Amino acid sequence: MYVQNANAPQRKPVTVPGLREMKVQGQRIVMLTAYDASFAWQLDAAGVDVALVGDSLGMVVQGHRSTLPVTLDHMVYHTAAVARGLSATLLVADLPFMAERDVAHALDAAARLVGEGGAAMVKMEGAAAHILDAIAAIAARAIPVCAHLGLTPQSVHKFGGFRVQGREQTAAERIVDQARAVQEAGADLLVIEGVPVALGQRITAAVDIPVIGIGAGPHCDGQVLVIHDMLGVTPGKRPKFSKDFLAGHDSVAAAIAAYAEAVRSGVFPAPEHCFN
Ligand code: KIV
Repeated sequence: MYVQNANAPQRKPVTVPGLREMKVQGQRIVMLTAYDASFAWQLDAAGVDVALVGDSLGMVVQGHRSTLPVTLDHMVYHTAAVARGLSATLLVADLPFMAERDVAHALDAAARLVGEGGAAMVKMEGAAAHILDAIAAIAARAIPVCAHLGLTPQSVHKFGGFRVQGREQTAAERIVDQARAVQEAGADLLVIEGVPVALGQRITAAVDIPVIGIGAGPHCDGQVLVIHDMLGVTPGKRPKFSKDFLAGHDSVAAAIAAYAEAVRSGVFPAPEHCFN
């Protein structure tokens, strides 16, 4: 039975300005996905800084081959469930595919994820003109925005698969420019996915907002993984950039604590989890 976080260890709630301060202080940010209240409770109890209700739920929870079938109703449902399991961990929720097709839809989606779902921040993929407009409009309503660049899974068909981005010089320059553009538009956080180590490092240095990497090397301000990948229960092949933290640990709680410690100490990601 699920019991609301009554015995959760007391810690200071993680805030958006607090994340910026962590970047300034050089303290690595620990982020992990969650899709339900029980795992949210585990993240919170382990002291994970940020919980992400990713549209990756389309793949790891719903069994789809991409994130594209996930709807806004799905996202609101899972975000609200995760919110009930958290006390101090900051909650970020994804805008699903096409929820940002224009500013009005993006604002409605953000309002639902925050109002009904209880998210403190919403995440959007890409840096096309309409995304920058949506980031600016949402940020202007005092809703913090996390941008997501590099291997953006909602663009899987355009990329021809889940492929590492920014290997060519011009592509790398474009992603650095995009990072500056999302910051300029008002984003408070940036997830960078599936890029070579050197590019992850360049992007992290190029912006003032914290940069959270997934398959982006060890030099980012923090790391995020899909919880199914880091518990070794991914259907099929686990991505190269992930690690099974349950191997060698005897509980989910110990695995999450080991992940948090590995991120904070800089041990994860190791060279075998990186793209060069
Ligand atoms: O949907 C998701 O889980 C994500 C992470 C992979 C960053 O966007």
